[in-house]
Amino acid sequence: MPNHTQADYELFAQKNGLQLSDVTPLSLEERIQRLETELSRTDVPYPIDSHKRAAYIAAAKSGLPFRTGNLGSESVALGDYECQQHYENYSFEEHLSWACLVAQQKKTKEKFACQEYQNGEKLFEISGGVIPDFYLLNARIYQQTAWQLATVNEIIPAELFFTCHSKRFFPVTTFMRPLGTDYLEEPDIGHDVAGHVATFTISAVANVMKYHGEARNIIYADRDQQIEAVQGDAKAIQLIKETADELLKYAGRIYWFTVEFGLVMENGQVRDFGAGILSSPGETIYSIGGGESNRILIDPSCDQDLLRLANTDYLISEFQKTYFVLEDFDLLESLTPDRILEASKKAMDLPDFTWREILPGDRVIDVGTAMMSVNEKYHRLMAGQEMDECLTRTAIKNLNLYRDGLSSDLLAQFQQMPNEVPQEVARWFDENRDSVNSLN
Ligand SMILES: [Fe+2]
Repeated sequence: MPNHTQADYELFAQKNGLQLSDVTPLSLEERIQRLETELSRTDVPYPIDSHKRAAYIAAAKSGLPFRTGNLGSESVALGDYECQQHYENYSFEEHLSWACLVAQQKKTKEKFACQEYQNGEKLFEISGGVIPDFYLLNARIYQQTAWQLATVNEIIPAELFFTCHSKRFFPVTTFMRPLGTDYLEEPDIGHDVAGHVATFTISAVANVMKYHGEARNIIYADRDQQIEAVQGDAKAIQLIKETADELLKYAGRIYWFTVEFGLVMENGQVRDFGAGILSSPGETIYSIGGGESNRILIDPSCDQDLLRLANTDYLISEFQKTYFVLEDFDLLESLTPDRILEASKKAMDLPDFTWREILPGDRVIDVGTAMMSVNEKYHRLMAGQEMDECLTRTAIKNLNLYRDGLSSDLLAQFQQMPNEVPQEVARWFDENRDSVNSLN
């Protein structure tokens, strides 16, 4: 529902260097014409065969809304989450919201996005005055990368999200954030399309996304096999599910700190490629120069560095307090499904760090002003001071591990880390364990 006046529109447009007349979607006929030209290309890595091309164009011509790409040999079942892009139904305000967002992003991306990301944007014609027509966008993406769009109506369960990844489908919403909004917790086209799509052309990023999907498939298959083996024992099933969820959480952190919020060195400069960053002009600026946050160089091909990612807890509700910077995209190729799984399993039994901590051994590029010492979380907990969820979760996990869960091998690694719990905290925890655990 539009909630702004014509004068507001003009103000938004002016602020972003746009003319309202630029915000004019092409007619169906014009879009079909462009689609026919695009689909007939043979100078692309994944040309589309004539049979699929004809069916795809016929669907677009008939005015059917776009629903999940079907140009390759794979398909995905999205069930109740499947959505359609009714292109003609987008309002002027929604197109203007897109135009303003990409205009703002253009300024910050040109300055801070890595070159490969910017090349991807040009290839897919992401910038523009109107929301992209998914028929055309999906065709372009497929021809260049073999990835396709899977249209969904809301945040989908992680299991389905990563099943899509394993088949080179990327779930995208069809909803556009309200005009004038910089950052949303829930994904919209501004995040899914204007943030993620360009990264598909960075082959190391696209490959690691697929690897994440394959790693999750292994976790789910293993979980289902274990559930079958316990023959209906509800307690055992619950435990198996909880363990799988835990494992997914750690694998999710590796995805978060790379695909969503990753940075990379380019000609000696720190540059962005994470879609979570680049879909927010505010965070794009903050991620490179924000005085509050850390920037730490990371090599995911090194097991210790991979654990550093998997054991770092974060919040979704605010700009990041630690960004990890790749020396080179090629290092991401080392994140095979096996290594993702191995690191996630190990991370479950190792202490976590909050995103406000710098650890000895970190290759620090910048230290932010929002940092805390590694033991501050424990002392805050003891003093009953206000703590965000990241601090609370991390402190409680580590205290429990320290008392119960660390094997001697892992304990050795734990003691090399700076999170060794001070004796007075350990004693206090022994006396207050029940009440502390109930906070979690
Ligand atoms: Fe995302």
